[in-house]
Amino acid sequence: MKLKIAVLPGDGVGPEVTNQAVKVLKAIASEFDHTFSFKTADVGAVAIDNHNDPLPKATLSLCKSTDAILFGAIGHPKYDNDPSAKVRPEQGLLKLRKELGLFANIRPVQAYKSLLDKSPLKKAIIDGVDISIYRELTGGIYFGTKTVSDDGNTASDLCQYTRKEIERIAHLAFKAAGARRNKVTLVDKANVLESSRLWRKVVTEIAEDYKDVKLEFLFVDNAAMQMILNPKQFDVILTENMFGDIISDEASVIGGSIGLLASASVGEKYAMFEPIHGSYPQAEGKGIANPIASILSAAMLLDHFGLNNEAELIRIAVDKSLKLQITTPDINANFDSITTTNVGDFVEDFIFNPKDSNRNFKNIHLGQSTII
Ligand code: IPM
Ligand code: MG
Repeated sequence: MKLKIAVLPGDGVGPEVTNQAVKVLKAIASEFDHTFSFKTADVGAVAIDNHNDPLPKATLSLCKSTDAILFGAIGHPKYDNDPSAKVRPEQGLLKLRKELGLFANIRPVQAYKSLLDKSPLKKAIIDGVDISIYRELTGGIYFGTKTVSDDGNTASDLCQYTRKEIERIAHLAFKAAGARRNKVTLVDKANVLESSRLWRKVVTEIAEDYKDVKLEFLFVDNAAMQMILNPKQFDVILTENMFGDIISDEASVIGGSIGLLASASVGEKYAMFEPIHGSYPQAEGKGIANPIASILSAAMLLDHFGLNNEAELIRIAVDKSLKLQITTPDINANFDSITTTNVGDFVEDFIFNPKDSNRNFKNIHLGQSTII
């Protein structure tokens, strides 16, 4: 298969982790005889520095001319600490999502067997967790009208949803649940918000088309609690933009590190793949950022084009790396000599030699004498 992929590394650790994902995709292309071509462009704080614009026109048109986008991370402390900044890196990402119509953000969450001890949550609570979060991505409070009064003392963000916006992601969530464990949990705040009541109404109607799928409702405050009390109850979570943002960060605790969570943002025409973590500026350039979220986002990219065997091989490689503790310090502080690049090298190497995976990878590639 021929795929043109736009690579938008962005800020902070974005470039480091994205490099590993690209390396892995190149290995897949070579092993499975695909032709993947990559073109890189600026987005976020780096794009503000270089072009005065968090989403330069050239970046947007590159994205529109490719089959898929691999996104790194966005954000910089100099903007986080300056509420008066007129231009912010995040605007680049939000505009990109909106311009490309990426209305559904799919965030898989699972508890890896080999990492059950790494989560602050008890093993018995997280063992077996397998959740797919369907977060609406181009509507709600993120995109509603924003106001600040002349005296600067009053501000507002409008949370607005249309029936159509709810319907299109709800259908995706029900279809996904039908291929999983047949349950959709709608997370909202329908006891308070009018927009949430619209969600309940529309989603209840759509559920009629999916008789095999059970629909449950949870208020977001309760959902936040249930996520750590009993996350196994969830199959597909369907929710609006901001609740999805918050719940998915919370859910990442189950896996043991936010550095493991991948995502796919899809629309009718375009698709973008991005780790859910941010730019982690404290780690920039240190080789400690976990590239797995980016690598697994690349696997989701392959799945999107029906390259399921290829995607599966990446997931097996990742699993193996976790089992062998070839992991960055966010997961295994005792192995802090294992860098972002080392993890990517392992996954690449596994793709080239999947059958030979029990050899002492660390001896060969990391120059260590540890026998595994
Ligand atoms: C995410 C991020 C973004 C969001 C930020 C960087 C704008 O937190 O993708 O979850 O809030 O959507
Ligand atoms: Mg977020």
